[in-house]
Amino acid sequence: MPRGHARTLAQALRGLHDRLAKLPTEGGLSNARQELRWLQDHAAQIPTRTSGHNSACPANSPRSYLHRIRRRNTETSCHPAKMNHSHQPLSMPDILDLRPHQYRWLRRAVFERVHHRKPLQYILGTQPFGDLIDVLVRSPTLIPRWETEEWVMQLIRWLNQLSKTSDEQSSNSASSPLRILDLCTGSGCIALQLAAGLKTRSAQIIGVDIAPTAYQLALDNLAHNRTCLCNSVSFLLADVLSSDLHLLLKPHWPINDSAGSGLDIPADMVVVNPPYVSAMEHTTLLPEVGLWEDRRALVPQTLHPNPGAPHGDNDGLSFYAQLIPQLVRQGIVRPAGQTATNTKLLKLTPDSNLPAIPKLVMETGGNHQTRPIVEYLLQAGFSQVGVWQDLAGHDRVIFGW
Ligand SMILES: C[S@@+](CC[C@H](N)C(=O)[O-])C[C@H]1O[C@@H](n2cnc3c(N)ncnc32)[C@H](O)[C@@H]1O
Repeated sequence: MPRGHARTLAQALRGLHDRLAKLPTEGGLSNARQELRWLQDHAAQIPTRTSGHNSACPANSPRSYLHRIRRRNTETSCHPAKMNHSHQPLSMPDILDLRPHQYRWLRRAVFERVHHRKPLQYILGTQPFGDLIDVLVRSPTLIPRWETEEWVMQLIRWLNQLSKTSDEQSSNSASSPLRILDLCTGSGCIALQLAAGLKTRSAQIIGVDIAPTAYQLALDNLAHNRTCLCNSVSFLLADVLSSDLHLLLKPHWPINDSAGSGLDIPADMVVVNPPYVSAMEHTTLLPEVGLWEDRRALVPQTLHPNPGAPHGDNDGLSFYAQLIPQLVRQGIVRPAGQTATNTKLLKLTPDSNLPAIPKLVMETGGNHQTRPIVEYLLQAGFSQVGVWQDLAGHDRVIFGW
């Protein structure tokens, strides 16, 4: 590359860096620097023959340079407990390595990031998640969050441990696969990670979403991650609140009709990361979220089934209030039994042992939602409830047995 061009490029890139650094992102200056580095790494991977118009990851291999760089950086930057502020500014050799078409891509990417507040993941087209090759991401489908990744990985450790213990205790090794339902599946990240992390052929997983864009993305993610899955996954397009889930699941989960009732189709476990942001809170979200991610993925579109509920509709709780009794009424989930009086909330930590496979696992919006959701569970007949806090110390998942 001619020296004159390299110098202009370096000056311009410093300008981009300054602009990105002024963006009011959560992690401040060091976060902005890292974002620019990821964009730059991405730009450097764009092959010479393409003009760089494709925002998808240019190297999909799990061992690709880009993947390794991004995973390392995600782990150190996104988790609040692991935030690392010691990153160096961009170095000249990186800048000088870019080809003109790569630099043009970078300029456009920074423009979209800074002026349109497009989330980095939508620009790069991917987000690392657990053991998956990558989760493909496209607006407006929700970008998988680190909080979700954290509890899904923990759930897999617990389930594999429970399965090991039951294998050791039972001489009958041919136990039937767990039927797992991932409601509000979005990109499919939870369903796919469960399929990748659970013991081989120990689960049959179905993900359901209402949004055609999410459904298509989940199918794309299924194809993209196929090589790392060791359990079956399928996706369905449906509104989980207004569908007869029995009818929906019947073709996929043959009826276990030993009693001749023709009604038996329960899931062993339902996981769900539903919309849980209140309409008021939605108005305060960063543009990266509010402008680019589907409102329906964030704010429940349903009215609270009980108009006299103490929390009304403005608390992001109406999805739980409707879904929990519906799952029980339709027989999709069978709570363990009678609610004990004075049921204690089990505080789950990485060292805890799960008492059994949870029937219902729900991501929540934080501590303020814990009590009402626990109430819904107890009212629906769950006999034991548990809560898991994320790395930032917020109640993040409620379990029901
Ligand atoms: C918070 S996102 C979760 C996405 C994904 N599971 C994750 O953890 O990244 C909620 C998802 O629920 C879907 N959704 C909202 N209402 C729904 C409904 N009534 N039935 C099915 N899916 C719904 C949205 O389209 C969105 O993809």
